[in-house]
Amino acid sequence: MVTRISIIYLALLFSTILHASLSERCHPLDKEALLKIKRAFNYPYILVSWDPNTDCCDWTNVLCDNVYNRIISISFSYGDLAGPIPAEIGDLPYLQNILFHKYGNLIGSIPTSIEKLTMLRFLQITWTGISGPIPAGIGNIKSLEFIDFSYNKITGTIPSSIGWLPSLGGLRLDRNEIVGPIPDSFGEFQMSDFYLYMSHNKLSGPIPTSMAKKDFSYIDLSRNKLTGDPSPLFGENKRLLLIDLSRNSFSFDLTSVKFPRTLVSLDLNHNKMTGSLPAELTELKLNLFNVSYNRLCGKIPVGGNLQRFDYTAYFHNRCLCGSPLPPCSYSEI
Ligand SMILES: *[C@@H]1O[C@H](CO)[C@@H](O)[C@H](O)[C@H]1NC(C)=O
Repeated sequence: MVTRISIIYLALLFSTILHASLSERCHPLDKEALLKIKRAFNYPYILVSWDPNTDCCDWTNVLCDNVYNRIISISFSYGDLAGPIPAEIGDLPYLQNILFHKYGNLIGSIPTSIEKLTMLRFLQITWTGISGPIPAGIGNIKSLEFIDFSYNKITGTIPSSIGWLPSLGGLRLDRNEIVGPIPDSFGEFQMSDFYLYMSHNKLSGPIPTSMAKKDFSYIDLSRNKLTGDPSPLFGENKRLLLIDLSRNSFSFDLTSVKFPRTLVSLDLNHNKMTGSLPAELTELKLNLFNVSYNRLCGKIPVGGNLQRFDYTAYFHNRCLCGSPLPPCSYSEI
C-alpha cells in the first residue's frame, strides 16, 4: 500500500517536473546568466520575480523573443539597484536592448563584456553613477543603432571606433566628464539624419573637417572647450534642424557662413565669433537664435524672424547694432 502510494506520488511528481521543464520557454543559459546578475546585484527587491523555479521569460525587467525564446531585452528604470553593472550581462548573447535609467547608486565602469553582444541595438545607461571610460571595443558591436550614455560620470576620451558603427543613428554622451577631441571618424557615420548630443563635457580641439560630408539633424555640443571653425557642420544643402554650439571657444568669422535652409534652432552664444551676421539668416524659419557674448559687429539684418528675438539674443558683442539692439547711428532713427 505504502509503496503503491509512493509510486503514484513519484509518478505525479515526475510528470509535474517533466511538464514544467517542457513548458518552460526560458533558455537554461539565459536563466543562469540572469541569476548571476541577480546575485551580483545582491538580490534586490525589484528582482523578486527572478525565481529559479519559474520561467525566466515570465520575469520582470526582461523580455524573451517568440522564435528562439532567448532574452532579447533587459531594462531597468527606477528601483533599488546598486553597485556595478555585472559582467554577466555579456552572457546574454541574444540581447538587443539594454537600459539602465535613474540609478544614482549604479557605479563602476561600463562592463567590457558587452562587446560580446553581437545583436545589441539599443544601449542606454542614463542618469547613473557609472564612471570610467567608454569601452574601446564598443565599435565591435556592429549592430548598435543607438547609444545613450547621458547624465553619468563617464571619463576618458571618445573611442574612434564609434564612428564606424554602420547602423548607428544617434549618439548621446551629454552630461559626463569626457575629455579630448571629437574623433575624425565622426565624419564616417553611415546613417543620415544622425543626432549627436555631447553637451556638458570637457571636449576640446576643433570640429573634424571630415564632418563636413555628414548630414546631421540635431547637434548639441554646448558647454565644452571646443575651438576653431565649426563651419564643417553647416552648409546650404544640409538637413540640419538644430545646432547648439554655445559656451565653447569657437573662433571664426561668421560673415560668409552658409547655413542649412532647414535650420530652426541656432545657438552660438558665448564663443569668440567675429565678423557680422549674414543677410541669409533672414531667410531661415528660426524659432531659437542666440549669438550673444561673441565679438560680432555691424547691423543686424532686418527681416525673417531676426527681430522677434529680444535684445539678449544679440547683447554682449563688440559692435552689433540695429533692432532689437539700439540703432547703429543717429542718422538711422
Ligand atoms: C541668449 O543667451 C544668453 C546667454 O546664455 C542668455 O542670457 C539670453 O537670455 C539668451 N537670449 C535668448 C533670446 O535666447
